[in-house]
Formats: sequence, C-alpha cells, structure tokens
Amino acid sequence: MPLDDTTDVSTPTVPSPAELLVDGRGQEWWRTAVIYQVYPRSFADSDGDGVGDLPGVTARLDALAALGVDAVWLSPFYRSPQADAGYDVSDYTDVDPVFGTLADVDALRARATELGLRIIVDLVPNHTSSEHRWFRAALASAPGSEERARYLFRDGQGPDGELPPNDWQSVFGGPAWTRVTEADGRPGQWYLHLFDSSQPDLDWTNQVVRDEFLDVLRFWLDRGVDGFRVDVAHGLVKAEGLPDFRPADDAGSMGGGQDAAAATPPYWGQEGVHEIWRTWREVLDGYDGDRVLVAEAWVDPLDRLADWVRPDEMHQAFNFAYLETGWDAGAIRRVVDDSLRVFSSVGAPSTWVLSNHDVIRHASRLALTEDVPQGHGIGPASTARVVPELGLARARAASAVMLALPGSAYLYQGEELGLPEAVDLPDDARQDPTWARTSGARYGRDGCRVPIPWESGAPAFGFSPSGASWLPQPADWSTYARDEQQGVAGSTLELYRTALALRRAHDLGGQQLTWLDGFADDVVAFRTGPVTVVANLGDGIVELPVGEVALATMAVDGPALPPNAAVWLVDAA
Ligand code: GLC
Ligand code: MG
Repeated sequence: MPLDDTTDVSTPTVPSPAELLVDGRGQEWWRTAVIYQVYPRSFADSDGDGVGDLPGVTARLDALAALGVDAVWLSPFYRSPQADAGYDVSDYTDVDPVFGTLADVDALRARATELGLRIIVDLVPNHTSSEHRWFRAALASAPGSEERARYLFRDGQGPDGELPPNDWQSVFGGPAWTRVTEADGRPGQWYLHLFDSSQPDLDWTNQVVRDEFLDVLRFWLDRGVDGFRVDVAHGLVKAEGLPDFRPADDAGSMGGGQDAAAATPPYWGQEGVHEIWRTWREVLDGYDGDRVLVAEAWVDPLDRLADWVRPDEMHQAFNFAYLETGWDAGAIRRVVDDSLRVFSSVGAPSTWVLSNHDVIRHASRLALTEDVPQGHGIGPASTARVVPELGLARARAASAVMLALPGSAYLYQGEELGLPEAVDLPDDARQDPTWARTSGARYGRDGCRVPIPWESGAPAFGFSPSGASWLPQPADWSTYARDEQQGVAGSTLELYRTALALRRAHDLGGQQLTWLDGFADDVVAFRTGPVTVVANLGDGIVELPVGEVALATMAVDGPALPPNAAVWLVDAA
C-alpha cells in the first residue's frame, strides 16, 4: 500500500530480498551490490589525448576498491564514431582505438579481479552506428533487400515519398526519420532512428538481428564479464504498422510520460521486448558465476517496470522513478514503498540510483529553481538556476538515505566527490547530439560528463597527463579533487567511504526496512538492521533519537538534526 503524506508512517515491514527469492537462487552478489558507473571518456586518460581510456581506468581502479564498491559498470568502449559518445556502436566485439584494445579490456578485468571488483559492460541493441557494416550494406542495397531488412527502412508519404513515414520524433529532437539517397542518386527510402540520425534502429522482428546479439553476448561472457547494462531496453520492439504518435509532453521523453493514463508510445515498452530478454536470460544462465542483466528501461509506472525483471528476464532495472523523485519526504517514502513492493513481487531486488551520464548531477538537480525535463540539461542561459551549497547538502543527505536502502545501488563517477553539474560550458564545446539537433534549445547532457578531478595540482586535475580534456573542466573543480578529500573528515568522499563500509559491515542491502513513527511529515526515518536513518527534508530542526551517530552529512550538534541533513545512528554492538 503506497503512503500518502497523511498516512501514519509505520507500515508493515517489507520482507528482505533474501526472503523474497522465488526460485531459491540464493544470495546472488548483485542483489545487494553497490555498482559504480565508469564513463570511460571522462574517468582517466592514460595517453594524453584528452579522452579517457581503458588503461586509464585500470590504473585508477584501486580508488574504487578503496571506496568500497562491489562492481563497475563501464559505459560503451566499443568501436564507434562517437557521435553519441559511444552509444553509436560500429563493431560490438572490438574496442575503439580511442579507448584501447581488447587486450586492455582483459587487463582491466584482471586488475578488477585482483581487487575483488566485478565488471559489467554496456550493450546497445536498439540501434547501431550508421558506420556499422550492416548499415553500410543496407545503404548500398536496394529497397526490399535483406540488407535493409535488418533496420526499419520505409517508403515516405506524399506523392514522391518526400514526407517521413510517420510523425515520430527523435529523443534528441527533430524527426525520427532520415531519407537516404538511392544508388541511382535519387531521394529514396527513409530509415528510423529514435535517437540521432547516426543511430539507425534495428528491426528486432528479424531473426538475423536476434541471433547476432546472442553471439555478441557470448563473446563478452566468454571474455569473462559479469554482466550487461542493456541500453534502451524498452525500445527494441515497435508497434505493428508504426502508427503515428505525438506524446502530449513533446518529443525528447525517454519514458511514457508522467501521466500514467497516457497511451504507451508505439516505440516504448511494447510487449514483444520480453521475449527477447527471455532468450538473453537463457544465454546468461548457461554461464557460471551469477552473470547479470540490468535494464535501462524508462517505463512507468513502477508496476510495469517489474515486468523487465521477472524471474526469466533481467535481474535488475534502474529505478528511474526513484531518481526522478524530488526533495519531498512523502514522495520518497512512497517511491521506496512502491519499489520494494513491485520488485519483490517478482523476486527481484530494488535498485536505487540518483545520477548517471544522462541526467543533471544530483548535487545540482536537488536544488534547481525549476524542474528541467530529463535530457534537456542546463546551461548559462537556462531560466532554471542551481543553488550550489543547498544542492550539495541535499545530495549528501540523499546519498546517505539511498545507501541504507535494501537492494542494490548505482553510483555515477564523481558523485562521491560531490561534483555538481558543469553549467557554464562554452557553446562550442558541447558535444551531446541533443544540442545540435535542437539548435541549442536544449543543452543536453554534457554538463554531467565533464572529466573528473583526481589531483588538485596536476594537469587537468589528474584526468590527463597532457592537461587535455574533451570537455573543459571548471576551474573550481580543484576543490573537488580526490586528493583534497582523501582522509579529510567531513568530505563527501569520506562520507561515501564510511557509508559503504557501514553498509557492508551491517549487510544493509539485505535487511528489512521499517519506517519509524513519531517524526514530522517532512522527515524520512527508518530502521534497517542495527541502523536508524533520519533525514531532514524540512526547514526546522529535527530532534534525533538516542544513539551513536556513525554517519552524518552535516555537523550534528547534540540531538539536533539541521535541515537538508541526514544521519545514521548505529546500535551499540
Ligand atoms: C541510453 C544511454 C544514452 C544514449 C541513448 C541512446 O539512454 O544511456 O546515453 O544516448 O541510450 O543510445
Ligand atoms: Mg586517452
């Protein structure tokens, strides 16, 4: 039963993930894991070209082990023209030279194994790059050919086919169709691309496409990866006949829109995707070692998202409902309850996530003067402004709440440093296709992708030995550098490290959550294992229960918890 703001917050206890196993699979590592997203372009650059690379990741992996995470998810490093920062793949079984080689993947994995870290790679099945051999062959072949049948080529509307086949809009802005020039030099068919025109959508009704991706899965599983983060896992199947559809909230939305009553777009969340995930699951189940499939599926409401993680489909799905919940204690309690309920109903753990490479960093997002739709971003001319100190305070409190919740949590590189969104990037530095496709009307996602700082005094703050950086780093990021925070009491890095150590020591990922009575509506307060978590989302002081403060996101004076702060109180052993 979801809570509303007036409900007494002591609800029945939610069973722990361990109690909810439907098929006796045991305590698989991913049920409680903290998984750290590395965005390779922006993590660490070893060769000085200003773009992060795999040897750079390998050299810095010990910092992630020291932080205390369980696994690393790597955003795409495959061969790619990098039109969408690697989410435009031209060869799924090779590494782009900008990132390194297959041998570098092996070296990274070997180092991760030494450090006790698992590795999850990112797979992009909805579309390929227009540079993929299949798409080149499709362009060189005639309409109706088997080469074209791997993609969604259609004739245009209008007397000369000069109008797109339907009215679908690209997530990045502009039409979702591009017309090709045929071999005879005349304008010809159109192909579908839900994202950039350099990312043609595959036709997943075609068995050749399905078989190819099963081989890609095996290629990486054989190489020893622990699983896959599956890109746009709600998009592969399109409604029969590709019917017109114009969402009420305009293009650019990755989900079905916030209005649960609104029709499902004919390109998101179609029933047919589930059959694909079942075949993928069978492949993974044929391997040892608890390999995992994680869905990036922007599907709402949460009840529908649970379909992606039924026992014979994926293992986890990103909880974007949680990410999109604002600074509102009642809303947070509701989304936590809903999440635990719907995921446990299918035997899956809930996941929790606050930041990734597609959203405004939560140290800025939680203190915006107005809401900004996902993917639109913020920049110098945005009417939405960030209140930086408030944002950081709230982000620290939000992360402290998240890391105590039962299930699995995802971190995005740099959030452990308290990094804000880079708002003031110069226009000519922006690279997200959203920026160009909307003629600057939407800033897009570059602001969360700026290379992260390691050492305050080093070139590019330690990101690159040459000082180069594919997106410029704000000058004041030296203060966020890891070496400035390492061992410094009260730093965001030490906050995360302490939270992760306590989480591990008390197995918080595997505990039951019980809401606590006796707090005002604008407080989030719960028990999990021996830990009491209290977060103050209101304006007043909250009186804390008796207990030893083991984690505090702000200096706590006696039993008084200031606004925008959270604490963990741990029972004496
Ligand atoms: C996913 C990725 C995003 C990418 C898009 C198209 O949403 O997270 O970065 O642009 O898919 O592949
Ligand atoms: Mg490099």
